[in-house]
Amino acid sequence: MVTVDLSGASKFFTGAGPDYAAAAHAHQVLSEGSGLGNDFIGWLGLPRRMKETELPAILEAAKTIRARSQALVVIGIGGSYLGARGAIELLKPIPGKNDPRVFFVGNGLSADALCDTIELLGDKDFDVNVISKSGTTLEPAASFRIFRELLAKKYGDKADEHIFATTDAKRGVLKSLADAHGWPSFVVPDDVGGRFSVLSAVGLLPMAVAGIDVERVINAAIEEFEALDLRSPENPAWQYAAARQNLSNKGFGIEILGCYEPSFRFMAEWWKQLYGESEGKDGKGIFPASVEFTADLHSMGQFIQQGPRTLMETIVRFDKSRNAYPFPFEEANADGLNYIAGRDMAEVCNIAADAVREAHVSGGVPNMVVRVPARNEEGFAAMVCFFELACALSGYMSGVNPFDQPGVEAYKKNMFRMLGKPGA
Ligand code: PA5
Repeated sequence: MVTVDLSGASKFFTGAGPDYAAAAHAHQVLSEGSGLGNDFIGWLGLPRRMKETELPAILEAAKTIRARSQALVVIGIGGSYLGARGAIELLKPIPGKNDPRVFFVGNGLSADALCDTIELLGDKDFDVNVISKSGTTLEPAASFRIFRELLAKKYGDKADEHIFATTDAKRGVLKSLADAHGWPSFVVPDDVGGRFSVLSAVGLLPMAVAGIDVERVINAAIEEFEALDLRSPENPAWQYAAARQNLSNKGFGIEILGCYEPSFRFMAEWWKQLYGESEGKDGKGIFPASVEFTADLHSMGQFIQQGPRTLMETIVRFDKSRNAYPFPFEEANADGLNYIAGRDMAEVCNIAADAVREAHVSGGVPNMVVRVPARNEEGFAAMVCFFELACALSGYMSGVNPFDQPGVEAYKKNMFRMLGKPGA
């Protein structure tokens, strides 16, 4: 389980501190399904459901793809993309010898990015996993048409064998296409919104193709959600949700999520979507931003230390580093670095992180630390369960429906009208 350290935030709390009674109430409402958006809380039991239903078929599909292709093109956007990318970059930043490369397309409308991916794909054998719950989202739908054409050129009448669809169980254009063409399909469950879907086939198939042990992920997530059912202020999800709500009430309206592992970058993107889309509504919300340390200390560090005091920061720290690299001793010491000689780089990084925390807290930035045991399958599962539960609790505590996203329709209406979509 992750643990949360609020000692760098406590002096900034308002009133009596984090409101654990409100966290308890939010947890109760969530678990009994009596809160806003209660038809979208299926993510809580998702790991067990996956184990009992689609997991074997996902593993089988991944085996097929890994055996015959050097690449998987994953087509999806938002919740249909960020979790898988976050997981793969975190756990498999360098593909193994037998791991297909995973390319992500359909997450924007850039012609250049599309052409760059096609160029990188070259003449590799590839499969496509198209992921869209609605099946109507423009970005993935447009890319999918293009990649169907590329598959047809490469594989002729065998093209359909290279397509895997992840979509609604019964409805939508993609489901109809999959049925008509006989593509193997996986389900985005009705009661799970996109941004809470990483532990469904949405995330698991691309992760399994990349060589991540998704059985380990699912087993760990089952245990994690059980552990997080704890009804006590000892629950790290209560601690995080209640602390950020308290700080937000005090005027800290922006939360930056930071990590000292560059491979965490897309996990932070996943977190931004999770919290931004769940909480930013009805004129409420904490603006989620992210930083990569130590790199951003040399760009954003100045603002964090001395800009407007509206920032709180949450730092994800992994207890164990995957690698050790003792810093070399040099007799001449011309660069003056012998004071760190013999120390491991991970130790140097940890000391830097402690120093940054002290500086930011003394500069007026409340600091919360989320400690994750290791950068592995279990650590990933622990983070996902923790951040999802805390997000739902935090949303309920602020009085919003954390499971809808009515605001994202506004730009779509304009775009479809301007593009001349019939009926728009
Ligand atoms: O969290 C969400 O619901 C959104 O981010 C969706 O995942 C995103 O808009 C993609 O939607 P769809 O899967 O229907 O293509």
